[in-house]
Amino acid sequence: MLHAAPLVERSPADRTAPIVPLNEIALTGIFEISKILTAPTRLETTLANVVNLLQSFLQMRHGVVALLADDGIPDLAVGAGWSEGSDERYRGRLPQKAVDQIVATAMPLVAENIVTHPAFGPDDAVTLGASETTRVSFIGVPIRIDAKVVGTLTIDRVWDERSMYRLDFDVRLLTLVANLIGQTVKLHRVVAQDRERLMHESYRLQKELSELKPTRDRRRVHVEGIIGDSPALRGLLEKIAVVAKSNSTVLLRGESGTGKELIAKAIHELSPRAKRPFVKINCAALPESVLESELFGHEKGAFTGAVARRIGKFEEATGGTLLLDEISEMDVRLQSKLLRAIQERVIDRVGGTKPVPVDIRIIATSNRNLVDAVREGTFREDLLFRLNVVNLKIPPLRERPADILELAQHFVKKYAEANGVPLRPVSADARRVLSANRWQGNVRELENTMHRAVLMAQGDEIGPDAILTPDGDRLDLAKTPPAVAHATMAAEQVTRALVGRTVADVERDLILETLKHCLGNRTHAANILGISIRTLRNKLNEYSDGGIPIPPAGTPGEYPRMPMMGA
Ligand SMILES: Nc1ncnc2c1ncn2[C@@H]1O[C@H](COP(=O)(O)OP(=O)(O)OP(=O)(O)O)[C@@H](O)[C@H]1O
Ligand SMILES: [Mg+2]
Repeated sequence: MLHAAPLVERSPADRTAPIVPLNEIALTGIFEISKILTAPTRLETTLANVVNLLQSFLQMRHGVVALLADDGIPDLAVGAGWSEGSDERYRGRLPQKAVDQIVATAMPLVAENIVTHPAFGPDDAVTLGASETTRVSFIGVPIRIDAKVVGTLTIDRVWDERSMYRLDFDVRLLTLVANLIGQTVKLHRVVAQDRERLMHESYRLQKELSELKPTRDRRRVHVEGIIGDSPALRGLLEKIAVVAKSNSTVLLRGESGTGKELIAKAIHELSPRAKRPFVKINCAALPESVLESELFGHEKGAFTGAVARRIGKFEEATGGTLLLDEISEMDVRLQSKLLRAIQERVIDRVGGTKPVPVDIRIIATSNRNLVDAVREGTFREDLLFRLNVVNLKIPPLRERPADILELAQHFVKKYAEANGVPLRPVSADARRVLSANRWQGNVRELENTMHRAVLMAQGDEIGPDAILTPDGDRLDLAKTPPAVAHATMAAEQVTRALVGRTVADVERDLILETLKHCLGNRTHAANILGISIRTLRNKLNEYSDGGIPIPPAGTPGEYPRMPMMGA
């Protein structure tokens, strides 16, 4: 049978000792303190909350956490009830000589009676309220970051009989709390310095970008393979030429098909890392567990099927650039691992035991608004802060119409050569159709359209009859707004056709039709459907499990529905 552990043996002077064993109270207290210390509140509030909690299980009258100034971070003094601007109140309670001694010796200081202790003067006795009738005890312990003393945790109490046997125990307890505080302060300082550095870097680059002189006075930036001469695109290319020289993380935003990947590659090629690898990974295309090992690699035996060690994209990109495509789709748990990799420049291979240092520049793309994603709780704010040092937006094609015809011409040439057909000019009518279209799918849609046009055009010119939608309809006719009556009728017919079907059925058809329309491109389809890629993928898995054939993931330039393309 189990016996209850004996309580601390009580001396006659000890009658008021608590019934619950001290260790248990202390353990609960420490546990609560550790929870407070990890809360994402500002440091002063966190520390004030710690003192507050200490009061609930430690015999004490006042407690103060004081931190010394360091590396541009100001000193602080907080206690229970701290509020902005009240530091002086707490600092005034600190017996200066005693605190200096704790800092200098890096040792705890215990005074059973401050009036008789050499580290306390008459002023301290007044401040701490000691008198003939009120005996005040004091305990102070150093707060350390590694070996360095960065502050003190001090308490005072009105002495009574209990004080005697608790002093030793309480010194140990306070030392433990001070160690926890030290770790928290360290973390806060690292994060604060890091934030500061990033903000500096971001400010410097954004300033440099905003001071770029008008293009007229400067040599134009030309990047092989990037077509277009609109002011918007020219401005963007000038910016990337500046940004490329730095090592900063870049976040590229832009609708699907605007050329984010192309621009990311250009940044790499204009950077000092150009001769090293450019590696890309699509964060939306893979389930979380696979993505993790793709990113960070894995050790042999890390999971079933890991028959050999494999390095991940981070290591593959060493010395070069890693493009994290569609970062908004990354699982939140993996985001924290990514944050560590970016912040500390080390990675952990799956199943690995020691961190591996990595030297890479990161470019991330997103066609979702990451600020919204942060608000929705699907994206870590600290990761966004990290990635957002330079933020570049690629304008949609409809906002730079001057690029449309030049791009169209470029794609005609490219696909005429690739397919071995003669190069033909785009007729004036066809050019009008191209210029008037809204290009929701941006450059990718234009590219696919011109690829089709090259193959479908009859005669000496590429005319409007060759400018087709993926369904084979003429783009100009498909876009003509139908007469109102016609539209109403069509809408009625559609509704009638839907009656009797389940929402799930209709949803499935809509998803699969949209996916076919997008030639299997998941990103594009999810955009049109207004759902996340993750949701789309889950739905497709569901259908596929139910035996429904799913269009394969398409890449631009592949047309699974047009047999002549295979030739
Ligand atoms: N300015 C341009 N000049 C030449 N080709 C371009 C240009 N912009 C985009 N493209 C081409 O358009 C296609 C789509 O570009 P890219 O893959 O870079 O877009 P994206 O923004 O990454 O799209 P998504 O969000 O769907 O991944 C590619 O084939 C790319 O080469
Ligand atoms: Mg892309």
